[in-house]
Parts: sequence; C-alpha cells; structure tokens
Amino acid sequence: MNTTHKLMLAAIASLGLLSACGERPPVQTVQTGYRGTGMEQNYNPRLMKVVAERNQIGGIQPPADSSGPLAKDIYQNVQVLNDLSVGEFTRVMLSMTEWVTPAEQKNCTYCHNAENYSDGSKYQYQVARSMLRMTREINSQWTSHVKQTGVTCHTCHRGGPVPQYKWFTDPGSGRENAFVGTRAGQNSAITGLGMTTIGHSSLPYDPYTPFLLGDANIRVEGTKALPPGNRSSVKQAEWTYSLMVHMSESLGVNCTYCHNTRAWSSWEQSRPQRSTAWYGIRMVRNLNNGYLLPLTQVFPQHRKGPTGDVAKINCATCHQGVYKPYFGQSMAKDYPELQGAKKPPAAPADAAPAATPTAKKVIASADTSVRGRL
Ligand code: HEC
Ligand code: HEC
Ligand code: HEC
Ligand code: HEC
Repeated sequence: MNTTHKLMLAAIASLGLLSACGERPPVQTVQTGYRGTGMEQNYNPRLMKVVAERNQIGGIQPPADSSGPLAKDIYQNVQVLNDLSVGEFTRVMLSMTEWVTPAEQKNCTYCHNAENYSDGSKYQYQVARSMLRMTREINSQWTSHVKQTGVTCHTCHRGGPVPQYKWFTDPGSGRENAFVGTRAGQNSAITGLGMTTIGHSSLPYDPYTPFLLGDANIRVEGTKALPPGNRSSVKQAEWTYSLMVHMSESLGVNCTYCHNTRAWSSWEQSRPQRSTAWYGIRMVRNLNNGYLLPLTQVFPQHRKGPTGDVAKINCATCHQGVYKPYFGQSMAKDYPELQGAKKPPAAPADAAPAATPTAKKVIASADTSVRGRL
C-alpha cells in the first residue's frame, strides 16, 4: 500500500466517522432546477426555526362593517382613507397602533394630539399618512412583485416604529485612506449604520445607493467574445455581486434560487423568481424615491443617518431572511382597507427634496465604476 492509498483510506475512515455522528445532517438540500445544473437550495433546519419564529403575522383586528357613513364625512382631516366607512377607518387606526407604535407607548397618541385628533402636526402622523399611501400603492401597483400576497405596515414594522432592516447612505468616512487612495467602498471589516459587511467579503459595502436609490445598470456580462464594444469591467462586477449577496441574504437563499450559474445573465435559463426579483428592484427604487426621500424634512434629526438622509428600504425590510415575507402567508388579504384606494391616490403633498450631496457623490462614483469607465 503506497502513501496515497493510506491517505485515501484515512480520508474514507474519517468521512465514515463524520457521518456516524451526524445522523441528522445539519444542512438539507432541495433540488430546484434540472439535474446536473447544481440548482439546489441548502436549508439548515436549526436556523430555519429561528427565522420562523421571527416571521409570525400579528395584530390582525376583526373585520369591520363597510356600510355606513364615510370617515371623510364625519372627520375633518381625512386625506388618504377617504373611501372607507367609519368602521373600516377605525379598524385601520387600531391595527396601526398594534403594528407600529413602540411597546412602551401602545396608544393613539404616538401619532395624535390627544386634544384634537384632526391636528396633523406630529411628525409620526405625517409619516404614517405617507406610509398609508405607500402601502396602498405597493398592494395595487406592484402586484408584479407582491402578487396577491401584498403587505401591511406589519410586514416592515413587526410591532415597532423602526423597521429592523433599513439603510442609510454610507459616507465611507474613516475608511478612505490618502495613502492607499479611494477604496471604492471596499475592503472594510467595519460594520456600521446597522449594516453588516457584504457577506463578510471585501465587496463594496453600499450597493444600496447606486442600485436601490439610483438606477445604475446591473448587467455585467459581456455580450460579445471580443473586447470592442464591451464596457463591462471587474469593478462593475464587484458592485453587482455586492447587490446579489444582499439579495440572497435578505431572502435566505443561494444564488441558484434565481440563476442557473452556468449563464448568470440568461433569462431563459433562470427560474421565474428572478423576474419577480427584477420587479422587486424597481419597486424598492420607486418606494425610496417616491416616499422615503420626500420625508427627509419631516423626520427628526435623531432618526436620520450621518449625512442627514432618511432611512430607506431594501430587500430585507420586508423579507427578513425569508424567500417570501412570513413564508408566503398573506396578511393583506384580511385588509381590503389597505388594498389601494378605490380611486387613484393623490400625489404626496410634500415636495421631494433632491438626494443629499453625499448620496449624489456615492451614486456618481458607483455609477462610474459600474459603467466601467475607470
Ligand atoms: C401610526 C400613526 C397613527 C396611530 C397610531 C393612530 N392614528 Fe389615527 N390617524 C393617523 C393618520 C395618518 C390619520 C389621517 C388619515 C388620512 O388622512 O386618511 C389619522 C386620522 C384619525 C382620525 C380622523 C381625525 C380627523 O378629524 O381628521 C381619527 C378619529 C383617528 N385617526 C383616530 C385614531 C385612534 C382612535 C387611534 C388609536 C386607536 C389612532 N387614530 C391611532 C395616524 C395614526
Ligand atoms: C416597505 C416597508 C414599510 C412599510 C410597508 C411601512 N413602513 Fe413605516 N417605515 C418604514 C421605514 C424604512 C421607516 C423609517 C424608519 C427609521 O426612521 O429608521 C418607517 C417609519 C415609520 C414611522 C416613523 C416612526 C418613528 O418613530 O420615527 C411611522 C409612524 C410609520 N413608519 C408608520 C407606518 C404605517 C402606519 C404603515 C402602514 C400603513 C407603514 N409605516 C408601512 C418602512 C415601512
Ligand atoms: C432573488 C433572485 C436573485 C438571486 C438570489 C441572485 N440574483 Fe443575480 N440577478 C438577479 C436579477 C433580477 C438580475 C438582473 C438585475 C437587473 O437587470 O436589474 C441579476 C443579475 C446578476 C448578474 C448580472 C448578469 C448580467 O446580465 O450581466 C450576475 C453576474 C449575478 N446576478 C450574479 C449573482 C450571484 C453571484 C448571486 C449569489 C451571490 C446572485 N446573482 C443571486 C436575481 C438574483
Ligand atoms: C414591500 C415589501 C417587499 C420588498 C421591499 C421586497 N419584497 Fe420580495 N416579495 C414581497 C412579497 C409580499 C412577496 C410574495 C409574493 C408572492 O406571494 O408570490 C415577495 C416575493 C419575492 C420573490 C419570489 C419568491 C418565490 O419563491 O416565488 C422574490 C425572488 C423576491 N420577492 C425578491 C425580492 C428582492 C430581490 C427584493 C429587493 C430588491 C425584494 N424582494 C423586496 C415583498 C417585498
């Protein structure tokens, strides 16, 4: 028996040992594509249990009577829920109290002036009004992504005022170094602003600003064999991968949940989930630009990021580590009140301020690298 044989035997013996103690392997695999393409998902039942506990729906109120006078005819300052009966309107108020007010102040006055409910001066009231419009828009205009499952305030808020997963533009301060030059938002072990590094890698740590606020191109594969005309670069690929890792982590899935890895760009060989994700990217961009950014002046300073920008949405805000929020269970189906206005909602009253100078800078620099001009 030569050394190679001995080594092989030792390896086989230790494998046997491993499988003997791991009667129930910690990771399970489910095939999702044609055999031989490696399209499979890995699940760790132990971790799934934790995620499942975090993804319970809650705060659903008994259905309300849709007949009777409209809330807008009884109250003084109803601008969004002007198609609801008083009963339905009250049901939404009770639910919002369950879904978004802090544990230590579970009551109406988190948003309202107790002396006068039509007074809209509290910032929480103003934010909530905008969020009502946003939730109705998601459920009525973005069925390409949320289908009939839809969302409620609870999908993001889970019983508190500040959703667990959100993001601010990362100014990168303290990470840039005159000696090494700009790192293009890379090579950082620091976790800041509630964001983790991207998959513990050295990939750019803020893929959100260029892709989920700006609309930088997410295509990197060259479509021609030879260089002329191919503007794709390694830099561009790094930014794209950074976003892809965020998407995978937010949904708790592998790349093969959407792609056939032998051809990342091919839509024909991708799973239908990739198209749903494509709409998801557009939806998140629209929500950030259409609803969160215009609230910049409304939010108090202590809720803002280091560059004075508002908290924004990414894939994890709704998904929280699961391929579908709450594993696909629908809360919105029990809330016809949040399904969208019976007539189109009015545009938000507040004028939209432009992105902060830092956000503009991050978008511009990422855009340059993503478009491969460096
Ligand atoms: C998360 C913030 C929030 C919470 C909590 C909340 N409300 Fe409201 N409330 C609003 C907003 C926003 C409006 C305006 C809705 C619109 O424009 O369609 C409103 C409007 C009202 C109005 C209409 C007042 C008027 O004259 O215009 C009443 C009444 C009301 N809420 C009662 C309640 C009650 C009772 C509770 C507690 C059970 C409650 N609200 C909890 C945000 C909230
Ligand atoms: C798609 C995700 C999403 C949905 C759906 C959503 N919100 Fe929000 N909401 C956010 C984010 C992000 C913030 C900003 C959090 C921060 O300041 O860090 C926020 C902030 C708020 C705040 C301010 C809280 C505070 O104390 O500063 C209120 C009030 C609020 N939302 C109410 C609502 C209501 C009511 C609904 C449902 C009608 C709703 N939201 C639905 C994402 C969402
Ligand atoms: C939830 C679905 C989903 C997951 C998971 C996912 N991707 Fe993607 N990927 C997409 C979508 C959608 C696009 C196209 C985005 C666009 O065009 O706006 C894309 C684009 C790409 C591209 C660019 C292809 C081209 O046309 O040049 C690459 C490369 C890529 N993904 C790699 C990855 C890697 C690596 C992973 C795992 C770390 C991953 N993806 C995980 C949905 C996904
Ligand atoms: C406003 C909340 C919300 C946000 C933000 C959001 N999603 Fe979703 N997503 C949903 C809901 C709800 C569903 C379930 C739709 C259904 O029942 O098929 C879903 C479904 C999906 C699916 C289909 C899963 C499957 O197995 O069919 C993919 C893929 C997905 N989302 C990717 C993303 C990506 C990528 C992002 C970020 C760019 C994102 N989502 C952001 C709410 C959201």
